[in-house]
Amino acid sequence: MRALIAGNWKMHGTSQALDEVRKLAAKAQDLACELLLCPPATLLERAVAASGGRLAIGGQDCHWERAGAFTGDISAAMLVDAGARAVILGHSERRQFHGESSTQVQNKARAGQEAGLMTIVCVGESEAERQAGQEKAVVGEQLAASLPPLSDPQNCAVAYEPVWAIGSGRTPTLEEIAAMHGFIREGLCRLLGPAGEAMRILYGGSVKPANAVEILATAEVGGALVGGASLKADDFLAIARAVTGKINQDAPTVR
Ligand code: 13P
Repeated sequence: MRALIAGNWKMHGTSQALDEVRKLAAKAQDLACELLLCPPATLLERAVAASGGRLAIGGQDCHWERAGAFTGDISAAMLVDAGARAVILGHSERRQFHGESSTQVQNKARAGQEAGLMTIVCVGESEAERQAGQEKAVVGEQLAASLPPLSDPQNCAVAYEPVWAIGSGRTPTLEEIAAMHGFIREGLCRLLGPAGEAMRILYGGSVKPANAVEILATAEVGGALVGGASLKADDFLAIARAVTGKINQDAPTVR
C-alpha cells in the first residue's frame, strides 16, 4: 500500500490558487505516494480540470443525505459529480465550529463510501484532554462512533489530528505519534477485523517539509493530512517526497 499525502486547503483559495494545482499536477506522477488535494468546494471542478487527472481531488465535507432541504450543504453524489474522488469527514474544525457529533460523522462517512468516495475520517484530542491523560479514551471513542462498519482500506483512511497541533507549529513527539497510531491500529482491528489491519492511518497537525521525513517514517504512519503547508505546491511536494517507499502492499487508490 502506498502512503497517502492529503492536502486540506480549508477555507483558502480562489481562482489564482489553481496555479498551485497545475504545479502539483506537473510533478505528481514522479512520487512514491498517492497525492490528494482537497480545495474549497467552489474550486472543485476547476481543480479537477487543472489537475489533468494526474492527482486526485477531494472535498472537505459532505452531507449524510443524498439530497434534500439542507441549505448550504453538499451531498456525496454532488462531490462525485464535480469529479472528487475523496472526502475529509469529521475534521476537528467541523466538530468544533459546526457541532458535528461522531454519529453525524459516521453517517456522512457512510454516505461518502456509498457514493464511491475514499473517506478520510478525522479523530484527535484537545490539549486539555491530553493534559488530563484522556487522549486515548477520547480518540478510541471517536473512532468507534465515527467509522462506518463497512469501512475498509479501499474506501477509508483514518487521520489522527491532535487539535492542539493543528496550525500551531507544535507536534507530538514521534513516540507519542507512534503510541497513538498503534492504539488506533488496535482499535481498527477490533472494530473492523482484517479490514482494519491495512487501513492507512494518517498523521495531521503542523506537518511541514522540515518534519515530514521523521513523521512519515514513524511506525503505523500511513501518510499525512496537511493544512497550511499544502497551500504552496513546493512545500506540499517536499512533504510528498519524504515518502520513499511502500508502507504495505495491495495499494488501494484514490485515483
Ligand atoms: P496544519 O497542517 O495547518 O497544522 O493543519 C492540519 C490540518 O488540520 C489538516 O486537516
